[in-house]
Amino acid sequence: MSTRSQKWVLAKTMKGSATLTHFRLEEEDLSTDLQDGEVLCEAIYISVDPYMRPYAERSLTVGSMMMAEQIARVLQSKNPRFPVDSLVLANVGWRTLTRVSDMKSLRQLPIMGDVPVSNALGMLGLTGLTAYYGMTHICKPRAGDVVVVTSAGGAVGSVAAQIAKATGCKVIGICGSDEKCHWITHDLGLDAAINYKTDDVTAKLQETAPNGVNCFFDNVGGDSAGAVICHMAVGGRAALCGAISLYSDDIHRPSQGLSIYRAIVAKQLTVQGFNVLNWFSSWHEAYRALYDLVLEGKLRGKELIYEGFDKVPEAFLKLFQGGNLGKIIVKIRD
Ligand SMILES: NC(=O)c1ccc[n+]([C@@H]2O[C@H](COP(=O)([O-])OP(=O)(O)OC[C@H]3O[C@@H](n4cnc5c(N)ncnc54)[C@H](OP(=O)(O)O)[C@@H]3O)[C@@H](O)[C@H]2O)c1
Repeated sequence: MSTRSQKWVLAKTMKGSATLTHFRLEEEDLSTDLQDGEVLCEAIYISVDPYMRPYAERSLTVGSMMMAEQIARVLQSKNPRFPVDSLVLANVGWRTLTRVSDMKSLRQLPIMGDVPVSNALGMLGLTGLTAYYGMTHICKPRAGDVVVVTSAGGAVGSVAAQIAKATGCKVIGICGSDEKCHWITHDLGLDAAINYKTDDVTAKLQETAPNGVNCFFDNVGGDSAGAVICHMAVGGRAALCGAISLYSDDIHRPSQGLSIYRAIVAKQLTVQGFNVLNWFSSWHEAYRALYDLVLEGKLRGKELIYEGFDKVPEAFLKLFQGGNLGKIIVKIRD
């Protein structure tokens, strides 16, 4: 027995800004005669994430499937851990149907209570985990600290900012639209917002954080990040989570030059890049802490949901155009 699966593959080498022409839709036959231990699952939601851009350039050849985590439903199973009709987190890429043999790609969906299951790809998934560990283990904010988060209206940034807020910090978010600035201050309760497209970031930091910034959670790199580093207080801690403003650049020739080294030395800063996968084995701890914040009303998220498998590349490109409030996901089916 077999069935047809659809998948998005890389249509040409990833260089410069990602465009729709970088992706091609393909179909393939999938045998459904499962071996012991295997499952067949169908995508319900697919996550799109900025890391896919540098990963595609670094690790994918033309014709390779794009990678991604999904929430999927088990259609057939020869594995008692993943019964038919259960929902799973499946690290299987931009594809509709998957025969899973490598069980390292599958995890049971955590209990979501009243929270929509799609949040298992967002604030209660790897996105939340990234924010949680970067903020609590690298920034290590204390009540009263001044914390700055870039892309503060995005998926990771909005969670990181709310964790700092729940710790009792003064939190300043940097983002790229007035709508996002309004959301993070009025709905999420941040203390101040800076629009990096229309404000003078340095002048705004001097105004909102006159004694400097103690903790910095950076998602974007480039000039905004440089402005924050140069405005940090002595002994400040910076968690470098992402550098989306530089993802289309040659890693050796970034388009935005930074003069941050003098500030790092003079202010004795601790600046640490990190990868959330280092904490993957302890995701239950982060999940529990984040879920508690949701129950206490201290963590709220938004989702921008695209409908249909044909929309996956478009949803992905939106990450680089900006403007999404919270997490972008693609709904494939009910
Ligand atoms: N270290 C890790 O383990 C790890 C794990 C997950 C994610 N990340 C990183 O975390 C960052 C945020 O990821 P996310 O999933 O939460 O995405 P996101 O913030 O929800 O979406 C991306 C946002 O980046 C902003 N952006 C795009 N181009 C920009 C530019 N040139 N300059 C400044 N801002 C720009 C846009 O916001 P505006 O509308 O505000 O411009 C856009 O909405 C990414 O850099 C990602 O690679 C790292």
